[in-house]
Amino acid sequence: MEEFVKQFPAGFVWGAATASYQVEGAWNEDGKGENVWDHFSHQPYHIANGENGDVACDHYHRMKEDVELMSWLGLNSYRFSISWARVLPQGVGKVNEKGLDFYDRLVDALLDQGIAPNATLHHWDFPQALSEQGGWANRDMTDWFVEYAEVMFRRLGDRVSYWATHNEPKVVAMAGYLDGAFPPGRASVNEALLATHHLNLAHGKAVQAYRAGAYSGKIGIVLDIQNFEPATDSEADVLAAQRMSELNTNLFLDPILLGKYPAYILDWLGDQVPQLPQDDMPVIAAPIDFLGMNYYFTAKVEHSTNGLLKSHSENFSADGWGFTKFGWGIDPQGMAKGLHLLRDKYGNLPVMVTENGTPAQDAPDADGFVNDMARIRYLREHIAVVGDCIRSGCNVQGYYIWSLMDNFEWTSGYTPRFGIIRVEPGTLKRVPKRSAHWYRNVIAENKVCL
Ligand code: BGC
Repeated sequence: MEEFVKQFPAGFVWGAATASYQVEGAWNEDGKGENVWDHFSHQPYHIANGENGDVACDHYHRMKEDVELMSWLGLNSYRFSISWARVLPQGVGKVNEKGLDFYDRLVDALLDQGIAPNATLHHWDFPQALSEQGGWANRDMTDWFVEYAEVMFRRLGDRVSYWATHNEPKVVAMAGYLDGAFPPGRASVNEALLATHHLNLAHGKAVQAYRAGAYSGKIGIVLDIQNFEPATDSEADVLAAQRMSELNTNLFLDPILLGKYPAYILDWLGDQVPQLPQDDMPVIAAPIDFLGMNYYFTAKVEHSTNGLLKSHSENFSADGWGFTKFGWGIDPQGMAKGLHLLRDKYGNLPVMVTENGTPAQDAPDADGFVNDMARIRYLREHIAVVGDCIRSGCNVQGYYIWSLMDNFEWTSGYTPRFGIIRVEPGTLKRVPKRSAHWYRNVIAENKVCL
């Protein structure tokens, strides 16, 4: 029986996640300032089909209805992010009370339903005004971030259970400053490495500010821990996979949890690595209460003759699993590898799986109902892996599906649909998919059946 029913420990946190720019809309209402995603998506050719997050799921106006759906699902916790420019339109200085009120009402509505708020301060949408001063490549950003964090801690610190400083800072540093696919669209090794360090330092400074306020919740950071494996066991491929992992994961994980940057990638990058004050490192490594881990896929890496890393990666799918609509390979065991790594090499600190999910095919029937069996299969297997990892000693305390509802998928626009709740294009009507009904059961029974 054990093999087929994965029972979870009492108190395990079941959640679902979203992010401000992907769901809120109301991009210029009630005093909100412009952020980098507003700016970027309003320029031609950046986003598939010329789409943008101006309206998104209109969550800003439909928040009450959305919290009712969360309550119907039985969520123990909801992970959302705060739009920095909604609260501080210029990034620093004058606070926009109406923006702050929105998050205040959201937190109260969640608590009314017994749902623990899990708030991320920075899920990629930082103020355009600060980006124009260099953004994350500018060291001042670390202090601007703390100013913003303190506004939020003071207002919500008495009620928010879990805080995360950044969501996947790797994406901001690498897509934003190295390959330029995301805002601010820069393409510079130097800026990407500076941005990496400043994101890490801003995180550490915000953790210190939180401790100074003696708030009652927990604080951590959300990192993506994808699984990179060498395509063959040749030395060249093994080293290529190591470079890929270190640039994508360890540049963030190691300073935050071990207080140092990974040596191999620093040697590889050589004199491209900027000189950094050594006394930043203890600040970056300020102890955190939990690590948020996002996991989606495994990639196989081979040595290549091109690019900074001279590494080439291909999506990998475990036997019989195939690929998601995004082309990502499905590999539930890749998630176990990440969780084992955190258990064995990083002190087994409390972990929340803060994102996991898939853009499955999503054609509705005549009533708008989506029978998304492929998504259920993906979620079921990954949740089962979480259960196995807990039994093998991993300190996993919660799991959040990405995503509560279909939303704006960054440069891919609205085509990839990750939600367990359908958001009907045009009307924005919410319709729970089959996966939502399934997840509701998982939560109610605190177990998953294979
Ligand atoms: C991000 C989400 C995104 C999801 C699917 C994660 O890396 O945090 O914002 O929607 O991946 O691409």
